[in-house]
Amino acid sequence: MLFHVKQRGWFITFEGMDGSGKTTQMHRLAARLRNQGRTVLETTEPGGPPIAMKIRRILLDSANQELSPSAEILLYFASRAQNVDEWILPALGRGEVVLCDRFTDSSLVYQGYGRGLGADAVEALDRIACRGLKPDLTLLVDVDAEASLTRARARNAAEPHCETRMDDQSIEFHRKVYDAYHALAAREPGRVKLVNGRAGLDAIEREVWRIVSEVA
Ligand code: TYD
Repeated sequence: MLFHVKQRGWFITFEGMDGSGKTTQMHRLAARLRNQGRTVLETTEPGGPPIAMKIRRILLDSANQELSPSAEILLYFASRAQNVDEWILPALGRGEVVLCDRFTDSSLVYQGYGRGLGADAVEALDRIACRGLKPDLTLLVDVDAEASLTRARARNAAEPHCETRMDDQSIEFHRKVYDAYHALAAREPGRVKLVNGRAGLDAIEREVWRIVSEVA
């Protein structure tokens, strides 16, 4: 039986292209919130709890080039459903702040638009996996597709690993993702706040904190 979720805590997500630096900013925001005495859960998608981390390995393994677009979107949502049920909803129920590195907006822009599966498919799966849970605030760390791919590939060259299946996509794919993120920010300006990802790390951190303090 699906039911609409009620939450007491505060749910903030970070979005952006690969290599946008959003993960560093999420850690910095978590540190600031903890300094203020808040209890913070940090989680990442795909991933989070151990079962979701196993799904992550399938999704990002560069050996899995044959993964079909439908299998891909279902696995992203399988990972999300596990994260929502095992970690996110319980933490929100305890009144904590949950910071999540990517959430359904990533599926919308990468699978819905990048792969062309459409927004309806994403919304249908979101209803099952998230049951009405929406971020209170989404920080979109904005870098263009070219800068994103250059940074992601430099990072993969510096620390060789096999989690590169998405970074291996074409520049056209990443441009579609970029356009979809901007369309989302224009559609939902109250929730989705653009942050300039080309600014220095400290400047981005201050901008994130300004936005969070205004919304809090
Ligand atoms: P990751 O190594 O975590 O990259 P990043 O630090 O940029 O977040 O890889 C996550 C990849 O998965 C990234 O390329 C975006 C992609 N992704 C989707 O395509 N759909 C999704 O729903 C999610 C959560 C991620």
